[in-house]
Amino acid sequence: MSEKLIDVVDNAGIVRLTINRPKALNALNSGVLAELERVLVDLEGHSDLRAVIITGAGEKSFVAGADIAEMRDKTPMQAREFARQALDTVKRLEALPVPTVALVNGFCLGGGCELALACDWAVASDNAIFGQPEVLLGVIPGFGGTQRLPRRVGPAMAIDLCTTGRKIDAQEALRIGLVNRVMPQAELEDYVEELSQQLGSNGPQSVRAAKQAIHDGMDQDLDSALALENALFALCFAGDEQPEGMSAFVEKRKPNF
Ligand code: CAA
Repeated sequence: MSEKLIDVVDNAGIVRLTINRPKALNALNSGVLAELERVLVDLEGHSDLRAVIITGAGEKSFVAGADIAEMRDKTPMQAREFARQALDTVKRLEALPVPTVALVNGFCLGGGCELALACDWAVASDNAIFGQPEVLLGVIPGFGGTQRLPRRVGPAMAIDLCTTGRKIDAQEALRIGLVNRVMPQAELEDYVEELSQQLGSNGPQSVRAAKQAIHDGMDQDLDSALALENALFALCFAGDEQPEGMSAFVEKRKPNF
């Protein structure tokens, strides 16, 4: 039987996905993308989902991009279809209703960087390397990078990275807002454990509502977005979490969500 390309570990609704092609630095071929799509469809039906962490197998690479060997002989129509499927899968990841974290443990290039950009935040090891090197291969980012990168780091830096193809280290990625945190590789797992516990102990419905307000609001004008926040804030008072959270505060105990 062939090895699984995506390992899935579910720890009380904190689901960790590991892209498992370490010999190819976890490059995204159509097999990985199809399996990721199937896993994400399953997660959409997971009623107790609290957070998703996505990483790459091994200590060298998160994802070193789309699979260059597979793309090399594609016609324009085949390339369009390959990227369209990848765009759909990356969108599915972005649209999950719970926080998503890219755990970047090494190379995060091309399609890898585009995968990380679809996550709510990114945590990187201090040896991580980021970039959109597609122009060095005669193409442009095709998994959403030309659109999500400027939205994350601003157009000037996005044009810099997408037209030079230069690679940046984790500290520069932190400085430009591409990642939220950088830590020594040896401490990365402890941090993920801490983060998982934190996300797992907060009210799941309010965490989802916070993500929805931010994601959906970003696509709207400010007044509409504030009306959305107002509606979601009110909705919190219709559930079990708000009475428990506020009673716990008044009674000087930890909430039990
Ligand atoms: N596609 C296919 N195979 C890849 C790959 C990729 N993106 N990146 C690495 N590999 C493979 C290598 O071919 C090599 O395989 P073999 O052992 O069979 O030769 C193996 O992974 C290890 O890679 P290296 O020997 O090159 O390792 P290194 O440490 O010397 O270099 C690296 C690491 C700098 C990341 C280098 O592998 C590299 O530059 N990779 C390509 C990065 C890149 O250009 N990514 C963008 C791809 S295009 C894209 O993603 C388009 C899009 O938006 C959709």
